[in-house]
Amino acid sequence: MIYLDSAATSLQKPAAVAYAAAEAIRTMASPGRGAYESAMLAADTVLDCRLALADLFCVRDPDRVVLTSSATHGLNIAIRSLLRPGDRAVISGYEHNAVLRPLHAMGARIDVAASPLFRPEEAVEAFRKKLPGARAAVCTQVSNVFGYVLPVERIAALCRKEGVPLIIDASQGAGCLGLDFDGLGCAFAAMPGHKGLLGPQGTGVLLCGKILPEPLMMGGTGSMSAEEDMPPFLPDRLEAGTHNVPGAAGLLAGVRWLARRTAPAVLAHERELLAAFSRRLAGCGGVRLYMAPDPACQTGVVSAVFRDLDCETAAARLGERGVAVRAGLHCAPLAHRTAGTFDTGTVRFSFSPFNTMAEALQAADIALAVAKT
Ligand code: ALA
Repeated sequence: MIYLDSAATSLQKPAAVAYAAAEAIRTMASPGRGAYESAMLAADTVLDCRLALADLFCVRDPDRVVLTSSATHGLNIAIRSLLRPGDRAVISGYEHNAVLRPLHAMGARIDVAASPLFRPEEAVEAFRKKLPGARAAVCTQVSNVFGYVLPVERIAALCRKEGVPLIIDASQGAGCLGLDFDGLGCAFAAMPGHKGLLGPQGTGVLLCGKILPEPLMMGGTGSMSAEEDMPPFLPDRLEAGTHNVPGAAGLLAGVRWLARRTAPAVLAHERELLAAFSRRLAGCGGVRLYMAPDPACQTGVVSAVFRDLDCETAAARLGERGVAVRAGLHCAPLAHRTAGTFDTGTVRFSFSPFNTMAEALQAADIALAVAKT
C-alpha cells in the first residue's frame, strides 16, 4: 500500500515510537503518584516529553506545555478559556470542525475572515478588518484539506496590536513548519501528537500563553489533593486523571526523531514528492489538483477533483489499487465552502517523511489510470 493519508494520521513512524510505547506499558506506572522506581520513570518520561516539545515550539516554561488526548481536546480547552456565549470570535475560512463545533456549541458569534485559497495577503487583510473588538481569534497554521500555509505570523502580529487573544490550530503544521510560540505571543496553540509529530493516536499538545486556562475536566492531579478546586498552576490544572504514559513515551520518541531530522528537511522532502506527483499529473484533463501558484504557500498536502468520478468513488478506486487517501469534506466543511469545493468534496493526497519518490510517481500513475476508468 502507498499510504498518502498522513494528514489524517501518520501511519509510518520511526521504529522507536512503538518501542518506547511498549516499554512504557511494561515498565512505567503513573507520574506524581509515588516515589518508587516505576512511578519516577513515568514522571521522567512525561517531563522529557514536555521539555522536548517546549524546545521544538520555543516555549520557555515547559509547564505551559500541556499533554492532551488530541488537538480537538486542546482546542476545546482554549475556546472555553477565552470565550463566553455571545462573544465574537474571528476565524479563518479554513478552520476544522474541531474549532467550529465548540464555538457553535457554546453560542459564540462566529465571524469568518474569509479569503481565497492560496492568497495570504488577502487572509491578512480579512483578519485586519474583522479583529477590532473581537473577543478571540482562531487561525489554522495549515489547511488540512489543501495544505495551504496561512500567514499565522502576520495574523499573530495583528492580534497583538489589537489585543485579541489568538488560538493557533497547528494540527497540520506541527512537524513540518516551525512555530515560535512565545515569540508570537499567542494565547494557545493546539496540535495532535499522531500526525506530523509521529506519536501514537490518543496524544495531543496544548501550548499555553499568559492566560490561565479553564479546565474541561476536573479530577485528581497528584497535587494539592486536599483542595476541592483544580490547582491554579500548569500543567496540573489541565491534566486531571492518569496520564497516557505510553502515549507520552511514543510522542517523545517521535519528537526526538523529528528534532534530528528537522522540520525544514521534512517539509522539503514532502514538497519535492508533491511537485513530482503534480508534474506527472499535469496536462491530464481528468484530474484537477489544487496547487498553490507559490510553492511556499503549500505543504505536502494536496486536494484533487476527478472530472468523471465523485470523490468517494475515486478514493475507493485508488484504494483498490493500493493508494490510501481521504475523500469528502475532511471534517472541514468551512474550508470547502471557502474554496468552492463544498458540493463535490475533494480527494486528498498527503505525503509524509516516510514516502519515497517512487511511491509518489506510482501514485500519480495510478491516479491517471483511475481518472480514465
Ligand atoms: N483532521 C484530520 C484530517 O484532516 C482527521 O483528516
